[in-house]
Amino acid sequence: MLKINAISKTFFPNTVNEVRALNNVSLTIEEGCFTAIIGTNGSGKSTLLNAIAGTFFLDEGTIELNETEISKWPEYKRASLIGRVFQNPFAGSAAEMTIAENIVMAMRRGQSRPLRLAVNAAVKEEIAEKVRMLKMGLEDRLDNPIGTLSGGQRQALTLLMATWLKPKLLLLDEHTAALDPKSAAKVAELTKHIIENENLTALMVTHSMQQAVDLPDRIVMMHRGQIVEDYRDEMKKRVRVPDLIETFNRVQKRELFDESVAAMLQQQYI
Ligand SMILES: Nc1ncnc2c1ncn2[C@@H]1O[C@H](COP(=O)(O)OP(=O)(O)OP(=O)(O)O)[C@@H](O)[C@H]1O
Ligand SMILES: [Mg+2]
Repeated sequence: MLKINAISKTFFPNTVNEVRALNNVSLTIEEGCFTAIIGTNGSGKSTLLNAIAGTFFLDEGTIELNETEISKWPEYKRASLIGRVFQNPFAGSAAEMTIAENIVMAMRRGQSRPLRLAVNAAVKEEIAEKVRMLKMGLEDRLDNPIGTLSGGQRQALTLLMATWLKPKLLLLDEHTAALDPKSAAKVAELTKHIIENENLTALMVTHSMQQAVDLPDRIVMMHRGQIVEDYRDEMKKRVRVPDLIETFNRVQKRELFDESVAAMLQQQYI
């Protein structure tokens, strides 16, 4: 279970560039729950994932993963519990190394022993078996450099690598956004399959409302560093794309209203 307790993060505090990226955010994600995070550009979605992964330390609040407080842990230590996939298909693997070598690195994540990349026949068979599940024919290309693959193939492998050791938490930040529609659909389907099969706890940032409706168990909407909507259980089952768009519009209208009231009040006191 992931427990986020009243976390806040301000970038460039006390300067003209000050940004309150996370503003007192609390969120509890049950074990095995797959949650989508949606929200407009700059609403704090990536910052939330970065806060969990330990890219920076929090100004306030705590984060617990399976009842252990991890908010003071350095990023590399959290990486032994957390799998991540980013938007860029080239970010999660080493281009000049073969598919098998990349996977062996993923299999040894968190081990302190020096890396040895000998890929023996038994290991290769284990790798081939899992890679076959992708249904991309990549099991016959295990000795090819991963840089020779398409973005979609590479992102599918990155997902497989990030989940190889069954992480306590999987963080996906728009991991299908840079792919063509067919590859994006394939990786999305694979994401759901792996998360359900391995019963993973996962947070997925997406701008695709269709993905948010189709894939996860729960949808959290962010706006200006805060959580403004949380669709779960029956509400999540009923919600459709037009409902999410309407909620987006309502949140933005409410903000415009608040801003104009603030401006009016300010004028009254000038
Ligand atoms: N490392 C950083 N340094 C300074 N400002 C940052 C940093 N990371 C994020 N921000 C700012 O925090 C705010 C939230 O950014 P964030 O990247 O979390 O948004 P997002 O919801 O992921 O948006 P998008 O949908 O565009 O990816 C933005 O105003 C952004 O400029
Ligand atoms: Mg982002």
